Amino acid sequence: MTFLRPSDPAPRLLFRRIAVAMVATLCLPAWAQVSPKANDLLRQMTLEEKIAQLSQLPGFPIAEFKEQVGVPPEEIARKYGAGSVLWVSDPKEINRWQHIAVDESRLHIPIMFGLDVIHGYHTIFPSPIAMASSWDPKMVESAQAVAAREARAAGIAWTFGPMVDIARDARWGRMVEGAGEDPYLGAAMARAQVLGFQGPQPGAPEHVLACVKHFAGYGAADGGRDYDSSYIPEEEMWNVYLPPFKAAADAGVGSFMSAYMDLNDVPASGNRWLLHDVLRDAWHYQGFVVSDANAVHSLIVHGYARDGRDAAQKAFGAGLNMDMASGTYLKYLAAEVQQGRIAMQQIDDAVLPILEAKIKLGLFEHPFVDESRIEQVLNAPEHARLARQAVTRSVVLLRNEQKLLPLDKTRIKSMAVIGPLADAQLDLLDMWGAIVKPGPTVSILQGIKDKVGDAVRVEFAHGPNIRRDVPSFFENVPMFTIKEQPKQTSEEAHKALDDAVAAAKRSDVAVVVLGEIALMSGEAASRSSLNLSGGQEELLEAVAATGKPVVLVLVNGRPLEISWAAEHVPAILEAWYPGSQGGIGVADVLFGDANPAGHLPVSWPRSTGQLPLYYNHNRTQRPEDAPDFTSRYWDVLTSPLYPFGYGLSYTTFSFDNLKTSKTEAKVGTSLDVSVDVSNTGSRAGDAVVQLYIHQRAGSASRPVRQLKGFQRVNLAPGAKQTIHFTLGPDELRFWSPPRKEWVVEPEQFDVWAGEDSTAKLHAEFRLTP
Ligand code: BGC
Repeated sequence: MTFLRPSDPAPRLLFRRIAVAMVATLCLPAWAQVSPKANDLLRQMTLEEKIAQLSQLPGFPIAEFKEQVGVPPEEIARKYGAGSVLWVSDPKEINRWQHIAVDESRLHIPIMFGLDVIHGYHTIFPSPIAMASSWDPKMVESAQAVAAREARAAGIAWTFGPMVDIARDARWGRMVEGAGEDPYLGAAMARAQVLGFQGPQPGAPEHVLACVKHFAGYGAADGGRDYDSSYIPEEEMWNVYLPPFKAAADAGVGSFMSAYMDLNDVPASGNRWLLHDVLRDAWHYQGFVVSDANAVHSLIVHGYARDGRDAAQKAFGAGLNMDMASGTYLKYLAAEVQQGRIAMQQIDDAVLPILEAKIKLGLFEHPFVDESRIEQVLNAPEHARLARQAVTRSVVLLRNEQKLLPLDKTRIKSMAVIGPLADAQLDLLDMWGAIVKPGPTVSILQGIKDKVGDAVRVEFAHGPNIRRDVPSFFENVPMFTIKEQPKQTSEEAHKALDDAVAAAKRSDVAVVVLGEIALMSGEAASRSSLNLSGGQEELLEAVAATGKPVVLVLVNGRPLEISWAAEHVPAILEAWYPGSQGGIGVADVLFGDANPAGHLPVSWPRSTGQLPLYYNHNRTQRPEDAPDFTSRYWDVLTSPLYPFGYGLSYTTFSFDNLKTSKTEAKVGTSLDVSVDVSNTGSRAGDAVVQLYIHQRAGSASRPVRQLKGFQRVNLAPGAKQTIHFTLGPDELRFWSPPRKEWVVEPEQFDVWAGEDSTAKLHAEFRLTP
C-alpha cells in the first residue's frame, strides 16, 4: 500500500517517501494491510464514489450541510455510497440507511456507522476520568469490550473513542472524557481502551473500530475554555500530550480524530505537522483520520482557510482522510482533482484505509443489524455486574475522619439522603452516556434504599436545583436527552434548603450528594470557577451545622473547590459520573461491601486560581521543599488539596524496602525496582502501588516527578507483597528540546514508591554512558 500522500508531491521528497513507506510496510498494523478486495473496489470506483467514502454524512438534518452540498445526505448514499453516517443509533434507522447503500448504490459498499460510545452503549460504565481513577487497565479493557459488544449488536461499527487528551486544567469541561493529567497513566488507559473496543485483532467479532481523539493538544485550551487555541511547545507535545496517542497507535487503533482547536496557530484539522509529519512520518500510522464534527468547514471560521475550496485543500493536504459531516469534501474535492491540484493517487491513498476498515470489520458480509438479537446482548447480566464492579473500583475516598465510613447499617436507624444529584439518573451518565441508548440507571438514593432495606428509614431532600448560568447548546440537540434542572424562585430554593436541613436533623446520618449535572461537564462545559455552584456550598454547610455526621458524595466530571468540606465534612467520596450501576456501586462502598481503592488521575486544586495544576512540573529555583519557602502564592499554598495519585481505603498500607537491582546501569539497559507493600489494617483491600522518577540533571530540566509504573494489588489483612517494576529506555527517555530528539541521558535518578505522587520512600541510581 502506498502512504496517504495528500498534496505536496515535490519530487525531491519522493525518494525519502519510498524509503519511509518501505520501512512502514514492514511494520504495518493489521488495519492497514491492503486486501485484494480493497484494491479491486478502488479500481471500479468513480471519483465521486471515492469522495463519498471520504465523507461522513450527517444522519440527521444539519442546515449547513444542506446549504453546502445542496442534496440530502440519503441521496448521496444512494448515488455514490458513503464512508460513514454520523449519530444514527436506532438499529431500524441503521438498517434503513444500510439498505440504501448496499442495495441501491452502484458498488454496494456498506456504511460504517459511527457514534460516541465513550463509556458504554446501553450499560453505561463510569466516565473515563472515573475509570482512570481505578488504575486498573484490565477492568477498563473489559468495560470497553462490553461497550463494543452492545454497540456492535445495535449496528454501530465505529466508536469515537478513546478520548486521550491530557487535561491539566479542570476548568476545561472535557477533562471528564479522558484519563486526567498524566501521560503515563493516560497511555495505559489509551492502550486498554483500544484493546477493549477493537479486541485482540482488528475486526474481532463483537468489537468495533476505535478512534483515538482529539489529535492533539485539545486539553491545553487557553484558560480552559473549550475550543480555544492551544499553544504547546514541541517538547511538551512529545513528552506530555502525544504519548497517549502514540500508545493508541501502537495498540493498533483503526482511526484518529483531529481536534477542533488551533494548535500553535494552525487548526489541528488542517495541521500537516500533526497529521502528516508526526502521524505518518514519525509514527508510520497506516489507519485513517477523520475530522471532528464540521471541523473541515470550521477551517474557514478559524480564519485559516479562505473558502470551502481552500478548506478542503488544506484539510486533505494535511492528511485528513474523512470529513465529518461538513460536506466540504463532497462539494470541493472533485474539482480539486479535475483541476490537477490533488492527484487521483492521493485520493486513492486516502480511500484505501477506509475500505480496508470496512472489510476487516466484516461489514461486506454482515452489513445489517440482526434486530432480534439486540435485547439479549444489551441485557446480559454480566454487563451490569461488570458496570457495578467498575463503580466500586473507580470511586475515590478523599477523606474519612474517625472512620465514619463504611456506614454500619445495623446501627443506623435513619438516614437523610440530600442533594440535587441524590435522586439523579441520567445525570449519573454524563453527556455521552446519555446520548447513546442508556438502559435503566439506579440513582444513589435508590442504591442506598435497596442496600439498607426496611431496617433504616431513608428520607430524601433534593435541596435547591442546580443549573448552568449560560445554557448548554446540547440541550437543543435532539440526540441529547439530558436537561437542566428547572429554574426556581429564591423562595423555592430557600424552602428546599430548609427542608434538607430539617431532614438531616431528623436522621442519624446525612449523605449529601452534590456536584455537577451532566450538562455541566463535557463538551462546551468549561467553567471559570470550580465552586459547588447554585447554593450547594450553602446547603452542605447548613447540613453540617446540624452536627449530624455528614458524608459528602461528589458526582462530577472534574475536581471541584471543596476546601471547606475538606476541613469540616468527615467523609468525602468522589463518585465522578458513575454510570448506570452508579447508585448500587456507591452504596456498596458507603456500606463497606466494597473497599474503595480509586486514586486521583488529576491533582485536586485548593482553588480555581491555581489552574493549570499538575504534579509533574519542573523544579523552580525556589522549590516547595526549600526550608524557608512554602508557596509561590501569598494567599494559598501552591500544593494541591489532594495530590495526583491520592486515594484512601478502609484499610491502610505501608511501603518499605525500595530497592533498585543495580546502583548503576548503562544507558540503553534496564533495571528492576522493587518495593514491599503490606496491608497494615484489619480488612482486605487494594493498594495502588505507584513508582515515580526524577532525572537530576541533563540536556533539559526534568519534572520533579514522573509516574513510570503502577500496579493495583489485592492484599489480605497482614499480607505483604513485593512489587517489581522495570525501568528501561522506554521509561527513561524524553524528547530533549535543545537536542531535538529522544534521549536517554547518563545522569543520576531519584526513585520513589508509594500510594501517591508525594510518596516519601526513596532510592536512587545512576545511568552511565
Ligand atoms: C466532539 C467529538 C465527537 C463528535 C461526534 C464533536 O462535537 O468534539 O468528540 O466525537 O462531536 O459526535
